Amino acid sequence: MKNVEVLDFQPKLMDFKEEIVMGLRKDPKQTDPKLLYDEAGSQLFEQITVLPEYYPTRTELKIMKEYSCLISEMIGKDTSILEFGSGSHTKISLLLENLQEPAAYIPVDISKSILEESVNHLSHRFPKLMIKGICTDYTKPFQLPIEVRKAKKRVVFFPGSTYGNFEPLVGQNFLKRTSKLLQKGDGLLIGVDTKKELPILEDAYNDSQNVTAEFNLNLLKRINREHSADFKLDTFRHHAFYNEEIGRIEMHLISTVDQKVSIDEDIFHFREGESIHTENSYKYEPEEFKKITEQCGFKREAVWLDEKGHFSIHYFTVK
Ligand code: AVJ
Repeated sequence: MKNVEVLDFQPKLMDFKEEIVMGLRKDPKQTDPKLLYDEAGSQLFEQITVLPEYYPTRTELKIMKEYSCLISEMIGKDTSILEFGSGSHTKISLLLENLQEPAAYIPVDISKSILEESVNHLSHRFPKLMIKGICTDYTKPFQLPIEVRKAKKRVVFFPGSTYGNFEPLVGQNFLKRTSKLLQKGDGLLIGVDTKKELPILEDAYNDSQNVTAEFNLNLLKRINREHSADFKLDTFRHHAFYNEEIGRIEMHLISTVDQKVSIDEDIFHFREGESIHTENSYKYEPEEFKKITEQCGFKREAVWLDEKGHFSIHYFTVK
């Protein structure tokens, strides 16, 4: 049997276009945060993760290192690790290194090129490990390959506070679907950003090197390139702030002038100051997140935080 392969269910470009047009017809205008992660966007995000102001990645890694023994014990031996979103190798490599005889690594990612890159990298680093990439949109229903369903135990690894991108109800549906994808006793190891002082939160999304701004504006570049649109990048500016009432960072692109933009044959009007809401990043206190997840078929087994409480990693099992 082949030790390494990629199953391709990559969405078509067309699917994205309909989503974009639908979102821009809304008032206020919005786009799905997953659209920020084309190849250039994913590279810019990697740059964000090492910025001095961007505390989540560094803090999550520190927690993973500090509690690697406990985490490995919880996951147990001979377990298949499914990772939702497979951008960077740092966290998964750290996890796999510390596990006892992991059975398989199953990265699930919407981008085929990112998935292939990560399958390739990890197959060199862990030559004996079975790796089966699945190229699909993990926010929509999908099935696990039969050998994964038959394996002893499965643990979903969902780091980086990617969960924070989901609207609350979408997130709950995702958790319910994930608990059904898994079996009783299987696990979910998930990194969640916490609520904290406003300046720390806002600085993390308004870095002094403007990498986050470039990451946000790259969305327009992508739409121009993939869907023959004519967004003028110098007429939009990055705007990110913490909405304390809702408990989320909001990222917007603000039109600095009154203008029309066309995407293929569709035309969109922007008033001066009008925004496209490009991303939300929800923050959850540990007990708040525990409650949500326990309503979606999981039981919390453990939660680990850094000493300042800036980031959390939870371990849940399927009830
Ligand atoms: C990848 C969604 C976790 O919300 O912090 C970083 C994305 N956006 N800076 C986050 C992001 C702007 C990031 N997540």
